[in-house]
Amino acid sequence: MQSSRIFIVGSGVVGAATGGGLREAGHDVTFIDINEARVKELTARGWDARTEIDLTDEPESLIFLTLPTPHEGHRYDLSAFEAGTASVGRALKGSAARHTVVVRSTVPPGTTEGLVKTTLEENSGMVANEGFGLASNPEFLRAVSAAEDFANPWMTIIASRDPQNVERLRELLSPFGGELRTFSDPAEAEFIKAAHNIFNATKISFWNEMWLVAQKLGLDLDPIAATVARSAEGSINPEYGIRGGAPYGGVCLPKDTCGFLGFAKTIDVDMPLLAAVVETNDRLAAIVSEEVDTATHAATHAQLRMAASGKETAAAGASGQQQHEPA
Ligand SMILES: NC(=O)c1ccc[n+]([C@@H]2O[C@H](COP(=O)([O-])OP(=O)(O)OC[C@H]3O[C@@H](n4cnc5c(N)ncnc54)[C@H](O)[C@@H]3O)[C@@H](O)[C@H]2O)c1
Repeated sequence: MQSSRIFIVGSGVVGAATGGGLREAGHDVTFIDINEARVKELTARGWDARTEIDLTDEPESLIFLTLPTPHEGHRYDLSAFEAGTASVGRALKGSAARHTVVVRSTVPPGTTEGLVKTTLEENSGMVANEGFGLASNPEFLRAVSAAEDFANPWMTIIASRDPQNVERLRELLSPFGGELRTFSDPAEAEFIKAAHNIFNATKISFWNEMWLVAQKLGLDLDPIAATVARSAEGSINPEYGIRGGAPYGGVCLPKDTCGFLGFAKTIDVDMPLLAAVVETNDRLAAIVSEEVDTATHAATHAQLRMAASGKETAAAGASGQQQHEPA
């Protein structure tokens, strides 16, 4: 990986941390940013920074998209991301080499093989996976410790339909250490990054909602939350509660979620997150029981058909098992 250049398109927090870390590891890195002040800032550090990507006569390179993907209300605003991707597409058009475009921005699932692929193809006149490679490699760093997090990742995700792209990125990123997982579908990598952030946000909101209750009761939440962080299986066991399609059941979880909702009402505290937890579980239970009915129905028919033909059959497994048996 020493031989080819790495382009960073969008040289803000993630771009600078990614490119800076790769420079330190000995790679030849060029930073691209439309913001001239940013380019000057990076140039002052002694880094190769430019306002436009030029791939003319450039041997095959890796091009990381670290462009902004802010939200506007309840939707991603991908306009800057799309504009930056289009500029890469135009640059690909003028290049004979086969470059690989790696999406490192946080984007909704399906973006790499949707918007990115289409935008690159339209602007380059090339076909993805032939004229250029495509991969997803979401970034997990925290803004407060961006450079340190890039240099010491705890998880690296690489996804591409083309195993050669996966291997190329593995070679580039595995020296930084940490766990590295690969996928063939870029949408899986994109989903991982989104779920990662949403899970963190949900945990924070959970404890903030509990803080409102504690405030009302005149209790200090800190020692309470610190104890639950050590007692609740959902906190201490990373495997607990991570399966989909399996609602919670038993006695305690339904009792305490519903009971506490009513209790909060008596002390005038709104708990929209807890209400959503109950609603989500009810919905899942209904969906799953429908699936069980369908599976049982299908199994019965299959058994009848098999019995009619004189063969034995195993009953189809129903997917509706419960996620956890509560204490
Ligand atoms: N900041 C974080 O902690 C963090 C962590 C992980 C992932 N991410 C994701 O990484 C992506 C980048 O985030 P960031 O925090 O680095 O954003 P940022 O705003 O710090 O940097 C984005 C840079 O892209 C430049 N830019 C905008 N349009 C451009 C174009 N057309 N061509 C070239 N450059 C252009 C901007 O001038 C800016 O310098 C986002 O998808 C974000 O969600 C951010």
